[in-house]
Amino acid sequence: MNIAVMGVGLMGRPMAERLKATGRMVTVYNRTADKVADLPKAGIAVAASPAEALRAGDCVVVMLADAQAIREVLLAPAARQELRGRTVIQMGTIGPRESQEFQRVVQAAGGDYLEAPVLGSITEVKEQRLLVMVGGTAAQFEQWAGLLKAFGPEPRLIGSVGSAAALKLALNQLIAAEIAAFSLSLGLVQREGIAVETFMDILRQSALFAPAFEKKLPRLLQRAYTDPNFSARHLLKDVDLFLKEAATVGLNVSSLEGVRPLLGKTVEQGLADVDYSALFEAVNPGK
Ligand SMILES: NC(=O)c1ccc[n+]([C@@H]2O[C@H](COP(=O)([O-])OP(=O)(O)OC[C@H]3O[C@@H](n4cnc5c(N)ncnc54)[C@H](OP(=O)(O)O)[C@@H]3O)[C@@H](O)[C@H]2O)c1
Repeated sequence: MNIAVMGVGLMGRPMAERLKATGRMVTVYNRTADKVADLPKAGIAVAASPAEALRAGDCVVVMLADAQAIREVLLAPAARQELRGRTVIQMGTIGPRESQEFQRVVQAAGGDYLEAPVLGSITEVKEQRLLVMVGGTAAQFEQWAGLLKAFGPEPRLIGSVGSAAALKLALNQLIAAEIAAFSLSLGLVQREGIAVETFMDILRQSALFAPAFEKKLPRLLQRAYTDPNFSARHLLKDVDLFLKEAATVGLNVSSLEGVRPLLGKTVEQGLADVDYSALFEAVNPGK
């Protein structure tokens, strides 16, 4: 099977490599060509335009930054013409209503559309451990689950298009809430002169512990945020998507509204493209 991959960023690259490793023919398109110049050596073809990538694939895996990028890459007139008879599997994090709109546009262009957002990051792709959530029909799930197993062992059908996108937002809200809460507690511990190891020892034994705390602790202690797995820019995008969606269903979002300016400040400080745990700098600025 020939697969086109749109968007070769932090996630798109290892995903294209996984597809190749599982014996598929892979053609990628990336806006910044320099970033993919090494891929032909690994047997992955590089297309000069989205339309060219689409022509090379029976199906297209989309791992672009956001809805705007999807519009620019997949829905520009030349690319749109190539959607007929092809299946678009949208795997980035976008809003449920955005995903439903893409479904309508792709179907109108004669293509098929499903969403398959993922939880997990670069390591989980490489180890085929992503949690893949599918929004589509049972028939689409049956058709594409085999392909999605290249990324994670057990893709799950959540419901129709939009439902998996909403579930992904629910999960990413927790990423934002956890890093904000942990940054604040760690900040107090440090400023009160309490040993961090004592704090962590007690936390680990309690029901409050979350593995994300342990994972991010070294970065926070060293204030080292380079080589990101997931950027502050994208977490801010996801918080905004959550706030927008939650407003339409009548939730009180005060807690997340408290986190949002912290991420905004992180991004304004020039930390948009480093690891999202740089939010610690907004909570507990270095002296
Ligand atoms: N990183 C993670 O751990 C993770 C996990 C799960 C889900 N996600 C989601 O998956 C998606 C991709 O994440 P990522 O971390 O791989 O992001 P990334 O490293 O920032 O890559 C984004 C990709 O989108 C392209 N792009 C951005 N704006 C564009 C535009 N206007 N026109 C054309 N191409 C554009 C970039 O091209 P250039 O190279 O030219 O900039 C790049 O290929 C996001 O929705 C993210 O929220 C990420």
